[in-house]
Amino acid sequence: MATIEIDSVQYQVEAGESLLSVCLALGLDLTYFCWHPSLGSVGACRQCAVMQYQSPEDKKGRLVMACMTPVTDGMRISLQAEQARQFRSDNIELLMINHPHDCPVCEEGGECHLQDMTLMSGHTVRRYRGQKRTHKNQYLGPFINHEMNRCIACYRCVRFYDDYAGGKDLQVFGMHNNVYFGRFEDGALENEFSGNLVEVCPTGVFTDRTFSARYTRKWDLQTAPSVCAHCGLGCNTAPGERYGELRRIINRYNGEINGYFLCDRGRFGYGFVNSPERILKPRIHDRMDITIDEAEQKLRDWLTDSAIGIGSPRASLEANFALRSRVGEENFYLGLDDNEQTLLEAIVDIMRSGGIRSPSLREVEQADAVLILGEDVTHSAPRLALSLRQSVRNAAFDRVRNLKIAPWLDKPVREQQIDHRSPLFIASVCATRLDDAATATYRGAQEDIARLGFAIAHNLDPQAPEPIGLHEDVRALAVTIADHLRQARRPLVVSGTASASLAIIEAAYNVAKALPAQDRQLTFTVPESNSLGLVMMGGKRLQQAFERVQAAGRVIILENDLYRRAPVWDVDTFLQAAQQVAVIDCLNSRTAEKATLLLPAATFAESDGTLINNEGRAQRYFQVYPAPEPVRCSWQWLLADMTELSFDRLTAACAAAFPVLADIRQAAPDAGFRVDGMKIPRQPHRYSGRTAMQAHINVSEPRRPADPETPFTFSMEGATADVPAALEPVIWAPGWNSNQAVNKFQDGIGGHLRGGDYGVRLIEPSGERDWFRTIPEPFKPINGQWRIVLLPHIFGSEELSLRSPPVAERSPAACAMLNPADARMLGVQAGDNVEIHCISGGPFIVLPTGIKPNLPAGLLGITAGLPGTERCCQTHHVILKKAIGEGPL
Ligand code: SF4
Ligand code: SF4
Ligand code: FES
Repeated sequence: MATIEIDSVQYQVEAGESLLSVCLALGLDLTYFCWHPSLGSVGACRQCAVMQYQSPEDKKGRLVMACMTPVTDGMRISLQAEQARQFRSDNIELLMINHPHDCPVCEEGGECHLQDMTLMSGHTVRRYRGQKRTHKNQYLGPFINHEMNRCIACYRCVRFYDDYAGGKDLQVFGMHNNVYFGRFEDGALENEFSGNLVEVCPTGVFTDRTFSARYTRKWDLQTAPSVCAHCGLGCNTAPGERYGELRRIINRYNGEINGYFLCDRGRFGYGFVNSPERILKPRIHDRMDITIDEAEQKLRDWLTDSAIGIGSPRASLEANFALRSRVGEENFYLGLDDNEQTLLEAIVDIMRSGGIRSPSLREVEQADAVLILGEDVTHSAPRLALSLRQSVRNAAFDRVRNLKIAPWLDKPVREQQIDHRSPLFIASVCATRLDDAATATYRGAQEDIARLGFAIAHNLDPQAPEPIGLHEDVRALAVTIADHLRQARRPLVVSGTASASLAIIEAAYNVAKALPAQDRQLTFTVPESNSLGLVMMGGKRLQQAFERVQAAGRVIILENDLYRRAPVWDVDTFLQAAQQVAVIDCLNSRTAEKATLLLPAATFAESDGTLINNEGRAQRYFQVYPAPEPVRCSWQWLLADMTELSFDRLTAACAAAFPVLADIRQAAPDAGFRVDGMKIPRQPHRYSGRTAMQAHINVSEPRRPADPETPFTFSMEGATADVPAALEPVIWAPGWNSNQAVNKFQDGIGGHLRGGDYGVRLIEPSGERDWFRTIPEPFKPINGQWRIVLLPHIFGSEELSLRSPPVAERSPAACAMLNPADARMLGVQAGDNVEIHCISGGPFIVLPTGIKPNLPAGLLGITAGLPGTERCCQTHHVILKKAIGEGPL
């Protein structure tokens, strides 16, 4: 600890930290641009100048940059000294010489760090009257707008995009006073985290193009704490609504999970909520003119003891529990792909009884050696990939600490990183987006990846079973990987469901179990927002439902398109055999089309629910705005006749029914929670137009909707002070209108939120399993046959985000990916059509060929989830023929 004096006030602070971050943590207002808690200090903008004095006698002092100055005991500092204030004001005036001062038309206006810093620095009069330098803007794809004239050359964008996120196509061009931040030529930004530029850039150079299409000022958006719906990581988000439309998603800081950053799927995948494909009215057979009462009555009639209920990994725990309660445990089926259920059950079992910690993303970043088995993480759990990329830097951090250099000084860390990188090994079916950060990579079919994993485990601990007959190269690689993992203090093994291989998951566990380090960790990716929660709740397999339906007759399907879960012919047979099919969902789908009773469900933005992420953390999302009548939450449809039932009671019943879910009630405060007797407003205190928004319908201001289910209110009125940080719908503090205001809500800059980060961990490591001993034989291609491997893609493989037009625009075209040798053998080149025939017969599909250099021979890669590939099932064997003409689908 150190005692320092800032403007004659003494503080106890952490020695060695950067003075800027310490000042911010103390709640002091100090201007800055180039510094960012995740990017460190480079001292480029000169905006954080303060006076430092050598002793009480030193009245002159000297200017230092707070972001570059380590805190030492006895330090004497002034933020308010006239010379420092003048310097900061002059500096910002110079930075803004070429700035267009176009705040009234700038989309950043009202949440702009440059605006905040300008006011904070006291630069309030524009004196420069000369010509301004101007730039040409670029088209950067469907996610991001570009307005280069607003740039103040702080370099944060390229430091985030290139250095932090591993991007290659955003650069700085030019020199001296004429620099340009953009791409070499127009085109979509390629990196999967490009959307963070919107929040990283302190001005309006990079703005959200999807928001731009239906723009609203920040203070006019209604918001509530939410959780991303688009993969199993559970990043925290702040969705914003206006006029009954979801207008945007921004990051909501969670010190344990997403920190300051989201992936582009999570940020731009919200468009499905406003989609014309939404189900907005109930339907019975072809009748759309039915009342809510009729729809409810019909569902009630069908919810008999013999009805089958099919749950969903993208529906909340409460919705699944409501369905399970109505149809009975024996009639509840999880609605998962059969193999996926096997994998998820194995993962839950390992997490609960394997004795190895499942880390948060913050802990992932601290790993000092990583092995990824069978995943292209950027596509299966994107934000995890960003954390893994940071873990590679830990060796450089250790190195600079040994050299007595502060680890928050970015340049020395980057320099050390050239020669000192923490090991990252990736074993996957084909090339991954993290390969550039990897120490070594291995390509193989699932069996071969698993065998490598088993070999690593055996090298770490001879008691672990050993695969026989490994190729010499693989054996040597296993020895190398084991050596690195053995030496690590915080080794991490990453695996998941994307390879559809139980053997890989079991091999991953063996490696983690064999690690000597106390602090070993094992994390699994899971595909959907509540995959883990659904399996923790438990239920039967979809295949069992298919076998039973002849006897049952009535089927209730909750937020699930079964055509994404099972072969087309199985689902067709099932739905045809069913007497009645009720579907509760938010979007039309092939399953919804076949419903005899269709009920419109609210999306995540219009409902409340609890989700469990891959770490085993339960998190609650809150309704941002009420859905239009007659849309309602799935659980409300299912429990419509239980008038006394509330969301809290439903959560409590769910917690009581499953010991493993007992703590879900702690995930968020209940509806009775108040701050000084008041609810928490979803609307910011500057919310405008409340009396005019509906004036074209009625000049009387409508009564605000009531919200009996949560501690929030659809209003501006309520408690804004002393709200727990994790429950703040809007991050704002006086003088801090941009997202940088989060520093006012943290326990230490870049640390945890004051009062604790969001969510509650349900699974802590306990017990110890025996080794898994079933080692697969090496993969051997069958002559004339290919085995399908479904490859996830960040844009396209997730059902909901694919219905968001900008995400759909970035999704790849469906194609049949082949090893070059296999393509030659078939006589096809990239772009040629191939017929894909299932070996058990049935209709075939035609797809264009894509050449995938390091895909193992004998495998056929298909991007998972794209329209037109529904008949391609994971691990099925197919026969390929060069197509003549177009052919049938
Ligand atoms: S574009 Fe934004 S982040 Fe990049 S240098 Fe300019 S102001 Fe800074
Ligand atoms: S990583 Fe997953 S949870 Fe996080 S923002 Fe992306 S899609 Fe959402
Ligand atoms: S924030 Fe300190 S120099 Fe830029």
